[in-house]
Amino acid sequence: MTGGIYRPETDGTLLAMVNVYKTFPVRKSFFSREDLRVRAVDGVSLTVPPGKTLGLVGESGCGKTTLARLAIRLLDPDSGSIRFDGNDITRMEGEALRTTRRQMQIVFQDPYSSLNPRMKVRDIVGEGWLVHGLARGKELRDRAERLLVRVGMPAEAGGKYPHEFSGGQRQRIGIARAIALSPKLVVADEPVSALDVSVQAQILNLLKDIQEEYAMAYLFVSHDLRVIRHVSDAVAVMYLGKVMETGPAPDLFREPLHPYTRSLLSAVPMLGDAPAERIVLSGEIPSPIAPPPGCRFHTRCFMAKQECAEVCPLLREVAPGRYAACHFA
Ligand SMILES: Nc1ncnc2c1ncn2[C@@H]1O[C@H](COP(=O)(O)OP(=O)(O)OP(=O)(O)O)[C@@H](O)[C@H]1O
Ligand SMILES: [Mg+2]
Repeated sequence: MTGGIYRPETDGTLLAMVNVYKTFPVRKSFFSREDLRVRAVDGVSLTVPPGKTLGLVGESGCGKTTLARLAIRLLDPDSGSIRFDGNDITRMEGEALRTTRRQMQIVFQDPYSSLNPRMKVRDIVGEGWLVHGLARGKELRDRAERLLVRVGMPAEAGGKYPHEFSGGQRQRIGIARAIALSPKLVVADEPVSALDVSVQAQILNLLKDIQEEYAMAYLFVSHDLRVIRHVSDAVAVMYLGKVMETGPAPDLFREPLHPYTRSLLSAVPMLGDAPAERIVLSGEIPSPIAPPPGCRFHTRCFMAKQECAEVCPLLREVAPGRYAACHFA
């Protein structure tokens, strides 16, 4: 049966975000009394099953990082709910939140600023063990060494400092830190965007290899469709704070349903099975302070009709397991 509105399963999934909103205040001039807010994440629902990868893609500023940080409670939502591993973590605090946080880790985009330059690599990697009383001293050194070797670093890396390594190696250190506590979910926010193309593939393959070994799920953020296609089991496409389309990755890349997804894919000819037509996105991305009424993509959409400027389309099932927020998908 198709046609239903997207309602994320909350049972059996590792992460379920339901109708999550997040705004940020905009600093206006001193005399302005207007209370303007950026609608960074504007009613998003999504799920990540255990051990699988949800790829999150969209143009710069569409809210990917904000959503990723909300998922692991590095940010608090304005409203909506976030369930992790069977528990509502939306307003979790104190010891319960600390315990849950062990299961959710993050790999950052910038392997230069995300590692403390004054800490030895083994202490960066082993910080979680120390904090949770799991290893110290010689045991911490030995465990850090084994983990560093596992992520492709030389064994003696533990005794050095981050600046002694290349960008790709630093990202390996960041990955080792993220997996040290065997988390169930790793949020990877543009983890290869700052790396040379030749290094990107190595890091992506490492992430794939350790995913099975550690049985981790990834919420994988990238603006690069080729990267998303390489790593994802399912994909969510965001535009101006909303999910425009979501579904299994092979289906979405073979036959994108939302005009926005089609436009994005058509701009990357190397994707091969993307539609042959080249759809050029017209105009600028509107401001997330005042997104267009109706469908927020209508101002740039090649399929837009009158209705699109008036009625906001809900994310609905347009083919089995495939959801798009479009009146005409
Ligand atoms: N702390 C903040 N204060 C004010 N505005 C913010 C803050 N964080 C994000 N924003 C705004 O929210 C919107 C979404 O930002 P976000 O960083 O989540 O987008 P993104 O999709 O990750 O972009 P990029 O691809 O450039 O990393 C943007 O308009 C951004 O300027
Ligand atoms: Mg970002």
